Amino acid sequence: ETIEKGGYDHFMIKEIFEQPRSIADSMRGRLRASDAHLQLGGLADYIDELAAAERIVIVGCGTSWHAGLVAEYLFEELARINVEVEYASEFRYRNPVIKKNDIVIAISQSGETADTLAAIELAKSKGATIFGVCNVVGSSIARATHAGAYTHAGPEIGVASTKAFTAQVTVLTLIAIAVAKRKGTISEETYQQLLNELEGIPAKVEKVFENAAKIKEIAFIFTYVRNFIYLGRGLNFPVALEGALKLKEISYIHAEGYPAAEMKHGPIALIDEDMPVVFLATKDGSYEKIVSNIQEVKARKGRVIAIVTEGDTLIPGMVDFVIEVPEVHEILTPLVSVIPLQLLSYYIAVMRGRNVDQPRNLAKSVTVE
Ligand code: G6P
Repeated sequence: ETIEKGGYDHFMIKEIFEQPRSIADSMRGRLRASDAHLQLGGLADYIDELAAAERIVIVGCGTSWHAGLVAEYLFEELARINVEVEYASEFRYRNPVIKKNDIVIAISQSGETADTLAAIELAKSKGATIFGVCNVVGSSIARATHAGAYTHAGPEIGVASTKAFTAQVTVLTLIAIAVAKRKGTISEETYQQLLNELEGIPAKVEKVFENAAKIKEIAFIFTYVRNFIYLGRGLNFPVALEGALKLKEISYIHAEGYPAAEMKHGPIALIDEDMPVVFLATKDGSYEKIVSNIQEVKARKGRVIAIVTEGDTLIPGMVDFVIEVPEVHEILTPLVSVIPLQLLSYYIAVMRGRNVDQPRNLAKSVTVE
């Protein structure tokens, strides 16, 4: 096991640091910006069907469901397709309406999650075409779907999912861009720009790691708090959910992820000088709105940790701690903004002496209901 951890203390931190490679592996052979090449072998025969889809229904559980929420923005924004993201466990016990031109995408790292598998069977029985985005080759879900694209994240051992999430987001981004290209809903210029930017993502993730020591210091300051709130808007809303989930899973600190604007409908009542609030505040279309949400929290003496875009000069003057991430195309934000949250939860859990790779009560793959 020591050898498998490759010199790291835990699988989770090894897997966090593997992300530049696992993201690159998930694009390898599929994307080449130099000649505008983008093709996902497993989906090649279905690309027209995807482009003609009236609706995409995404099913998954846990972190995979969060990747689905990111994909919702991507498909809507780039390919102008209506998307619904469902917890597989809820979907399977409803009587969902599936129409002729609907497509279902099932997301699963393990490919063995019982609820996701059952959701696929239900959708199939209603005549839907199902695509899988799985990490484990030949897994039950990969076999149950009509077609799919693997995430090439490599084996993920830590129970808390990290590199599988960024690989899922990478693959879903590739699919959304490919469909958008086919539909003509993005310009040639945007298409080329996105391919270029995607190729640059592994190096930008690597750059986030330069902040590891700083994130560790922040983790030290907040090791023994009892609650955390994570806030984001747009593409950073699912990232807020994922950040809160990571912290809950491995440190056992109660954490809530919320859309930042929705805070005023409840969570704002929780804010006082003891409440740490993590803001996803990168420079994107929601930036100004997020800045005013930060002001609302600071006015109530909340302690703010902000994830900001490199070179931001406004937010550092407003908050308690900042963690910079490199500038990326807005659509690709989650691939960099989630990294500091993974590290923060890891360091806090280690400082609390938790069993990071095998947290209590959790299983890597939930194969029973
Ligand atoms: C479990 C794991 C999570 C994972 C979820 C879905 O709860 O602990 O990390 O996100 O299952 O698993 P899947 O393999 O379907 O992605």
